[in-house]
Amino acid sequence: MDTTKTRNGARPAPGAVLFDAYGTLFDVYSVGLLTEQLFPGFGERIALLWRERQIEYTRLVSMSGGNGQHYQPFWQLTRAALQFACEKLGLELTQQAEDRLMNQYRHLSAFPENLEVLQELKQRGIRAGILSNGDPDMLAVAVKSAGFAELLDPVLSVHATRRYKTDPATYSLGTEAFGKPANEILFVSSNCWDAIGATWFGYTTLWVNRAGQPLERLGTEPTRIGSSLRDVLGFFPAA
Ligand code: LAC
Repeated sequence: MDTTKTRNGARPAPGAVLFDAYGTLFDVYSVGLLTEQLFPGFGERIALLWRERQIEYTRLVSMSGGNGQHYQPFWQLTRAALQFACEKLGLELTQQAEDRLMNQYRHLSAFPENLEVLQELKQRGIRAGILSNGDPDMLAVAVKSAGFAELLDPVLSVHATRRYKTDPATYSLGTEAFGKPANEILFVSSNCWDAIGATWFGYTTLWVNRAGQPLERLGTEPTRIGSSLRDVLGFFPAA
């Protein structure tokens, strides 16, 4: 795993960080325990299909209209994807099970190292925020329940543009909010496609490849590849 080499030539040292939320700060597969409890033998398959369909739907609604007329908030797409996943697997999703799973999604676990990394960034004087597909309500609950509220500002949502990642209009929310060019901002995602979209936009990027996935074969690599959120700190040496 390459955690040191700069792949895209000389870049200025970043002065701020933007995190993806779902999959990067919050573990979208932590719902697997409850899905397994509700549907024994299917927990992991539901969690995988649920996530896959959720992202697929974000792309469909974004690609199918010029001014966001097909946009539906991420919370709504997440519920629709859960319903689809269960139907596809031939499982009956009762209203009660759906509500329990969606409630779990609202309070996803954060990855264990995240809190200390965010605290360390704050200590080093580095501003850190979120740029996510999540809608503002769900992001606010997730950030608060993980104890990150004092550590992340701004929390930016695609809701402002009605265009999901990897639309450049959405990535530009970060450069506007920080008032910095993209290559002076470190964009961090555990979703390789998001790290690549952000690289195309011009951000300095870190793909946190926790699961040891292969690189997406799109002819572009993130600036760096790491294996935990701790690799963010390598961009910001302590004074
Ligand atoms: C997000 C998606 C990628 O938080 O999970 O933007």
